[in-house]
Amino acid sequence: MSRGLFEHLINIEDLDKSVITDIIMDADLFKQNRKKSDVTGKTVALMFCENSTRTRCSFEEAAKKLGMNVINFDATSSSFAKGESMKDTVENLYAIGVEVVVIRHSITGIIDNTLGKINCNMHFVNAGDGNRAHPSQALLDFYTMLETLGTVEGKKVLIAGDISFSRVAKSNIALLNKFGADVHLCSPKYYKPSGIEKLGVTYHDDIEDALKDADVVMVLRVQNERHGNLIYPSTAEYKRKYNINSKNFKLAKESAILMHPGPVNRDVELSSELMDSDVGKTILRQTKNGVFVRMAILNKILSSGRAE
Ligand code: CP
Repeated sequence: MSRGLFEHLINIEDLDKSVITDIIMDADLFKQNRKKSDVTGKTVALMFCENSTRTRCSFEEAAKKLGMNVINFDATSSSFAKGESMKDTVENLYAIGVEVVVIRHSITGIIDNTLGKINCNMHFVNAGDGNRAHPSQALLDFYTMLETLGTVEGKKVLIAGDISFSRVAKSNIALLNKFGADVHLCSPKYYKPSGIEKLGVTYHDDIEDALKDADVVMVLRVQNERHGNLIYPSTAEYKRKYNINSKNFKLAKESAILMHPGPVNRDVELSSELMDSDVGKTILRQTKNGVFVRMAILNKILSSGRAE
């Protein structure tokens, strides 16, 4: 990706800090109703080949607030389901008038792969690929942290849960490291990501150690659907050692923010009593902020210009 331009959103690692800051500032202006759309009348296709509630619905709402046309591409009833390639699908959508396609897919790297093959100027937004990246989630999480903390620099951000299978964790780690946060991870050893020593984080396998003095506690879902044939200890065992609840949450700073990207496995990684308390309200604020951050992403991608 060319520096300063924002043609696609595939990985947080590709983005300059200045681009991220622009997106956050634009999201804030959209939230305050102080910014107008630059992309009215343009067309986005939402291609979700994996289930989604928050990401798909908030991209749709974001596009509609921007005055865009929205094509909800149903992969199961499309020619994609008959075996048409991603390259041919994207080129046909472009021929129809789509300028940006938002893709969620179980295959890691499918967008990079398609981008290298297509003969059209489609813009791509990664809405979650395999267990690698979920960049728009990391951006909305960052915005939510900034609203409360002002900055993440030097703040202890704990990400706890099924980290090895989490695309949310990987995108958040990349973004938080760019902005100088003190990133801590906590998981049972069986969910410890490989190559952790290269991530620039502190790792814990004891949740009480990990929670001490945290400014942000981001809890992740146990992602059973991505475990394939791997066998892990029971949900009851996970819950016994790693469930975040109002008792252990007190180990974090008194002002600590509780976050979760959703969907939540209630009473597994997070107790219902904590989630339904005032502390849990940030989780729905993350979802709300997702609309404004995704407005900023679509608006910037379609108005940034191209490298060639
Ligand atoms: N956080 C997130 O990606 O949620 P959905 O799977 O509901 O989109």
